[in-house]
Amino acid sequence: MFHLTVHGDDRIARVEPELYGHFTEHIGGVFYDGIWVGEDSPVPNIRGLRLELIEKMRQIHAPVIRWPGGCFAEIYNWRDGIGPRENRPTRINWWYRDDGRLEPNAVGTHEFVDFCRLIGAEPYFAANITATTPLDIRDWIDYCNSPAGSTTLARLREQNGSREPFGVKYWGVGNETWGGGGNMTGEVYAHEYRKYAMIMDNACAGLELICSGANHSDWHWPNDVLRVIEPSARLMSGLSLHFYCGAAGDPLSFSEEEWYRQLRQALDVERAIERNWGFVVGYGMEKHARLVIDEWGCWHPGGTGPSPHMKEYGIEPAPNNPQMVGNLFEQQSTMRDAMVAAATLNLFNNNADKIRMATVAQLVNNLHCLFLAGGDRFICTPTYHVFDMMQGHMGGDALRISGSKGEISRDRYSIPGVSVSASVKEGALTVTLANMNVTESAEAELSFPGMSAADTASYALLTASDPHAHNSYEDPEAVGLRRYEGPFDGILRVPPFSVLTASVKLT
Ligand code: AHR
Repeated sequence: MFHLTVHGDDRIARVEPELYGHFTEHIGGVFYDGIWVGEDSPVPNIRGLRLELIEKMRQIHAPVIRWPGGCFAEIYNWRDGIGPRENRPTRINWWYRDDGRLEPNAVGTHEFVDFCRLIGAEPYFAANITATTPLDIRDWIDYCNSPAGSTTLARLREQNGSREPFGVKYWGVGNETWGGGGNMTGEVYAHEYRKYAMIMDNACAGLELICSGANHSDWHWPNDVLRVIEPSARLMSGLSLHFYCGAAGDPLSFSEEEWYRQLRQALDVERAIERNWGFVVGYGMEKHARLVIDEWGCWHPGGTGPSPHMKEYGIEPAPNNPQMVGNLFEQQSTMRDAMVAAATLNLFNNNADKIRMATVAQLVNNLHCLFLAGGDRFICTPTYHVFDMMQGHMGGDALRISGSKGEISRDRYSIPGVSVSASVKEGALTVTLANMNVTESAEAELSFPGMSAADTASYALLTASDPHAHNSYEDPEAVGLRRYEGPFDGILRVPPFSVLTASVKLT
């Protein structure tokens, strides 16, 4: 039995709803056949956008969606994606050499903002600072945000169907500028940031500008960048961090050791959060900026998704990837991916004072995805259910938890037996307990000094008969969420490799 104390008088910070955000790139099957089916499609859609996916995103109250990349962002010209669709140019997608797909620009600024509005999410645009100029990005901001009828670009927006401004608040200043986004050194990027941020900020009040941050555990990057940016700290609201867990065996048939190794990799995000936050504080920028973890999740070897071979889309294998199966980077998602998602979101809650936003990569038909879709087929992955069951934390106040979480040891590493977070909102306490043990059940006794809880609770349990369980087109409900009301005596009981959220009224 684990004994955990939830400290009602030790509030970490508000869990910004944007910690539960999403990332969508023009890559593989994310947009074309995933989100976008086209207005004339027999697949139910709203103005070309897949209806079922929109409904599922509404159910989890998705707060923010990042777009258009990723690496794709760094070759994107926003002007290609406005105006009548039939006149839009076809371009070489960033990922063309990997999957042979060209970019038709059917989804551009208007379609993406429509997608966000239908869901009730805020758009977060990643600006191309490698292959355009500050003026191009300033123009994009003008096009999106200037009041109706004011500027020439606001009038162009109106001609293209939207009199009202889009009000895009979040802007990334480049993506992975140490790699695909310009292959820069930290110092060079920092000077570019200062230039772009000045011109972007000046175009529109109230923007949150996000600095392109480190990959995984590169501690040099944030130091090199923030040292140069610090004098213009006012112009930075977020420092980005990308944190993918690398491969730990096959995504569908991993061993017990690989289960734990994958979780160890995922839990290391906390070290990255602490280190990066240390640089923000060290350079005295914490009053303006928090972390934005705008790509995270498991990155398994490709080819485990259900999409057909590219030839079925009429696309020949790409030169860099002649063996490619299905959509680029499309992967299946098992209970292990769900566990990574739950443990990661728990860590985000527990570090809510340091994080402004986080967007999981990527929404559909790709890396750690919530959905798989193709033609009229559409399913939710176990990861979707984690976002569903944990949504009660969004906007709550995260509370400090102490006590022993146990330890599972392997030869070279160990992990805690459980992952846990708690928050209060509107007179209710929400606790998520993920049992990371793949063979044993967990029981945790919670105490809440200073709070008294009702004797019944609402529960959501994500469990399965096998840690490899996943949903497929043939068996779309193999892993589902069970919601129920039940007695609450302060003890949470969770089966192996399962996640439980309990929500209890405070009396
Ligand atoms: O999510 C896939 C790719 O991973 C993104 O395009 C890039 O930003 C990262 O390297």
